[in-house]
Amino acid sequence: MDSKLLNILPMGSAIGANGHLIVGGCDVVELSAKYGTPLYVYEESTIQVMAESFTQEFSKRYSNSRVLYASKAYINPAIAKLSIQLGLGIDIVSGGELAVAASMDFPPEDIFFHGNNKSRIEISEAIDYGVGQFVADSFYEIKLINEIAADRNQIQKVMLRLSPGIDGHTHKKTTTGILDTKFGFSIETGDALKAIKNIQNCENLDLTGIHFHLGSPIFEMEPYDLAIRSVIEFLSPLIKTGFDMRDFSPGGGFAVGYTSEKLPPKISEYAETISRALVESCDKFDIPYPRLLVEPGRSIVARAGVALYTVGAIKEIPGLRKYVSVDGGMGDNIRPALYDSKYEVIVANKLNDNDKESVRVVGKYCETGDILAPKVDLPICSSGDVIAIPVSGAYGMSMSSNYNLNPRPAVVMVSNGKSKIIRRRETYADLMRCDQFE
Ligand code: LLP
Repeated sequence: MDSKLLNILPMGSAIGANGHLIVGGCDVVELSAKYGTPLYVYEESTIQVMAESFTQEFSKRYSNSRVLYASKAYINPAIAKLSIQLGLGIDIVSGGELAVAASMDFPPEDIFFHGNNKSRIEISEAIDYGVGQFVADSFYEIKLINEIAADRNQIQKVMLRLSPGIDGHTHKKTTTGILDTKFGFSIETGDALKAIKNIQNCENLDLTGIHFHLGSPIFEMEPYDLAIRSVIEFLSPLIKTGFDMRDFSPGGGFAVGYTSEKLPPKISEYAETISRALVESCDKFDIPYPRLLVEPGRSIVARAGVALYTVGAIKEIPGLRKYVSVDGGMGDNIRPALYDSKYEVIVANKLNDNDKESVRVVGKYCETGDILAPKVDLPICSSGDVIAIPVSGAYGMSMSSNYNLNPRPAVVMVSNGKSKIIRRRETYADLMRCDQFE
C-alpha cells in the first residue's frame, strides 16, 4: 500500500502481515465477514483527536471560543453522545437532528438551530426543548420564532445568518456565502441591516450574534479572512450604537483530504486566520471581542470513517475498461454522483499485491452515474474481495437513501481492537415500515 494513504485513513491504521487493512486495531476483512457489507466503520480516536484539535487550536488563539459539531455530516445517538463527552456544542438543521440530540439529553443551551426554512413545528419543538439559539435565516423565520416565543411568554436567543458576498471557491453546489444563494441575509442588498433592526424590534427575541457560512470544503484561508473583516466592518457602527454582539460565527467548511494527493490546510492555519481576522477587526473598530463559534462537520468525522464493500460482478470491455461492481454505491455515498467527488479505493485484503490495473469502481444501483471511482489503479480484483473507501465518515451515511429499495448499511465504531455496532443494517421490514395497505 502507498504509505501516503496512511495520511487519509483513520489514525493508527496499519497493514496486517496477511496484507489486510487494519483500522482501530480491527482487521476490516474480519469486520466485513462479521457485520456484512456495505459497512461504515468509524474509528473513535480519530473523531476524538479531530474534535480536541479544533477545541485546542482555537482556544489557544482565542480563549473565548467554542466548537459546535455540524451534525449534518453524520449524527446518530452514539455520535451525539460522543460529541457531548468531547465537550462539543452542536449545529442542527432539522427536527430530526434535534430528536437524535435530545435522545442523548444533549444540553439544550449547546444546541444551535440552523437552516433556511425551519417549520413552525420544528421551531416549537426546539423552543420547548430549550434550544440555546436559533440562527435566523429569513424575515419569515424571525416573525415565526418571535410569535412562538411570545405564545410561551419567553425570550428566545437568536443569531442572524448573513451572506457576506464572498466566494469560498468550492463546488457551486456547496457555495453559500455569495449573493445568489438561498442562505442568509445579504449585506449588499440591505437585507442584513433590515433584519438586524427587525429582530431588535421583536419583543420576544434577543439578538445575541452574527453567523455566516461560506460553503464547504474550503481549502483557502483568504475567504475566511476577507469575510470576517468585511462583516465586522459592516457590524461595527451597529455595535457602537447598542447592538450587544456576544457571539460571532464564521461557520464551518474546513477541508479534509479525500485523496492523498490533495491534503487540507492544518486546523491551526484555519484557527490562526480566523482568530487573527476577528481580533484585528475588533481592535480596528474598537469593539468588544465576542465569543467565537466555529462549526466543523466534515473535518471532525470524515477521516474517521471508512466504507467497506464486497466486490461482486466484474466486467471487462476489451480495449476500453474494466468495471468492478461493489454491493453499495450511490445509495450510501451520493457524493461522487452529486459533486464529482474523488475518493481513493483500497482492496482491503490485497494490500501487499503490487500488480495493478486500471478499473472503474461502480455501485449496484440502476444508474449509469452510480460510479464510486471513475478510474483507479487497483490490484487485480476478484469477486469476494473487500473494497475500502477512506474518508467516508462525512455526508455518506447522512445523505444515504433507500434508492432501489436497498437497505442502508450498518455502522460500527472501532477502537483498540474492539468493534461495536452503532447502527444495525436495515431490513426489508424497515423498508416497508411506513407503508400502508388496506
Ligand atoms: N455550518 C453550516 C451553516 C453549514 O451549512 C455547514 C454545511 C457546516 C457548518 C458544516 O460544513 P462542513 O464543515 O461539514 O464542510 N453535503 C455536502 C456538504 C454540504 C454542507 C452543507 N452545510 C458534501 O457532501 O460535501
